[in-house]
Amino acid sequence: MAFPPSFLDELRARLSLVSVIGRRVKLTRKGRDHSGLCPFHNEKTPSFTVNEDKGFYHCFGCGAHGDVITFEMQTHHLSFPEAVERLAAEASLEVPAQAPEERERARHAASLYDAMEAAASFFERELRSPNGRAALDYLRQRGLDEQVIGRFRLGYSPDSRTALKSALKAASIPEALAVEAGLLIMPEGGGDAYDRFRGRVMFPITDRRGRIIAFGGRIMGDGQPKYLNSPDTPLFHKGGVLYGLAQARESAAKAGSIIVCEGYMDVIALHRGGFAHAVAPLGTALTEQQIELLWRMAPEPIICLDGDAAGQRAAYKAAERALPLLKPGLSLAFATVPAPEDPDSLIRANGPAAMQEVLERAVPLSTVLWSQALANHRTDTPERRAALERDLMDMVGRIADGGVQEQYRRHFRSQLWEAFRPARPLLHGTFRAAPGGGRNTQGRRRSIDRGSDGRLPGAGLPPAPPPAWQIQERMLLLMVITHPELLEEVAERLGGLHFSDSPLDNLRQEVLKHLDGWGSLDSEGVQRHLRSCGFSQILNCLLEANAHDQRAYLKPDAPVEAVRELWEHVFKLYAQKELVAELRQAEQQAGADLSDETFAYLSALWSSKRQGDDT
Ligand code: UTP
Ligand code: MN
Repeated sequence: MAFPPSFLDELRARLSLVSVIGRRVKLTRKGRDHSGLCPFHNEKTPSFTVNEDKGFYHCFGCGAHGDVITFEMQTHHLSFPEAVERLAAEASLEVPAQAPEERERARHAASLYDAMEAAASFFERELRSPNGRAALDYLRQRGLDEQVIGRFRLGYSPDSRTALKSALKAASIPEALAVEAGLLIMPEGGGDAYDRFRGRVMFPITDRRGRIIAFGGRIMGDGQPKYLNSPDTPLFHKGGVLYGLAQARESAAKAGSIIVCEGYMDVIALHRGGFAHAVAPLGTALTEQQIELLWRMAPEPIICLDGDAAGQRAAYKAAERALPLLKPGLSLAFATVPAPEDPDSLIRANGPAAMQEVLERAVPLSTVLWSQALANHRTDTPERRAALERDLMDMVGRIADGGVQEQYRRHFRSQLWEAFRPARPLLHGTFRAAPGGGRNTQGRRRSIDRGSDGRLPGAGLPPAPPPAWQIQERMLLLMVITHPELLEEVAERLGGLHFSDSPLDNLRQEVLKHLDGWGSLDSEGVQRHLRSCGFSQILNCLLEANAHDQRAYLKPDAPVEAVRELWEHVFKLYAQKELVAELRQAEQQAGADLSDETFAYLSALWSSKRQGDDT
């Protein structure tokens, strides 16, 4: 529904932004503005400002921004027309009459709603009549009580071709309208209209505001189809509706979270188990429209699907659908109910705590995409790994938002790196796998493996020596790990660096994190800690390579003075690109002929240090 701009202007002019917002947020005056704690994100110091003159609010913390109408929409999870109607009532403004055809459509829709409402009350009455005895027993036996039956307005459609038809007639609903509403079926070959739903437990489906727009009917016991749903009508488009949304809205807003499960009974069971913020699509995969609808409730809806193959397929489909729509801060999380349970049976068998545990184990969207891609590929050859990478990057390419896309690209690159980097000593060589495909055995000296020509067996060429900056990075970090007493004085400089090798950079960051806590730790304690944080592999590589080096200054028992001096020197080199370039050149000239490329580099380093000392 389009409102005339003059009406909207009038509405904004009549309402005081400060008083509308003031109902939700404690505002204090600051010059021409008011400020307070932002209602759209968690904060301790106010970064939310309201400018009454200009008629907008802005949060410097989360970027929330808008006028009185958007505020109403965001805080009460309303659509634009809903917010306008509400505010208009508050401002005692009459919503302007619409164009004649629009009015006609609205009138017609209103009468379709009437037909649905009449049917729902009929089904509810029937459930409580002797006719509905078996249906009520069925619901009770499935663990539902009066309260939840009433809340979801469950009902019963008698096993008759004309029961609803007569009831609607008695309620003065024209037959043609009932047919259009999907309640009656008009046989194609002619004949009388008859009830669509017969002998089923009825689940009314509502829009966000709780107006009934369709039904799902479950057969009691076995039989096909298990659920019969209303066809698409002017009121009901399956892909744009979530079952239970009207009932979930309030608690979703409170919890800042919303759960998406598979079916009618799951929504109701979750509700009964204390998870009132639960909704379900109607037997299909989540649509774009439903994802957008969910994001109006919560930034990271939890897709909670069954652990069977169908549930997992649906989860992956939702993940793929969400990709192009992702925005900073908006995503999906995924929880899996262990097969063969669904939320309904899980809660009934093991209680709400079991469900809570499932929800707490939810994983982010990026994890689902990554594991699915891995499941689709073997990764035992470079070509197969390249295919995996290509698929991941194709996926990333489908993200429309530039910022999110960039983060995903980085994330998957680093995942690939983590997953497939070979385990090799870091101070030696580059990260490539050893020639011949074998991994270096831990603790074995590489020189032992070399043939008389100093080359690795099976290799055409020895591996290229690592660039100087890479060795420097490894040394700067290793020295701090073997001599934690250095950390405090070098932390600021170490913190200003960014190592281009990401596992090494992660290690650097972890080391810095403990600036305050390490004062008392010796190198062994530090290493134990790093291992407990998952850095064992990279640490082994650094230490093993170091153990092969004959120079005493890298030995764990070297005097701290010597190590400090070396750290300062390496840092100077690392910071001085020209000198590094020179060294690298020298290293390239000499490196390939030496039996140990680290030796080549360190000799050069050593001699340049001596030169520095001499001058
Ligand atoms: P399920 O088969 O998982 O059913 O379908 P359920 O929700 O667990 O139902 P109960 O516990 O057996 O009663 C999940 C959803 O798929 C749609 C419905 O929306 C259902 O809730 N569905 C399923 C249909 O629309 N038609 C069907 O025949 C079956
Ligand atoms: Mn079920």
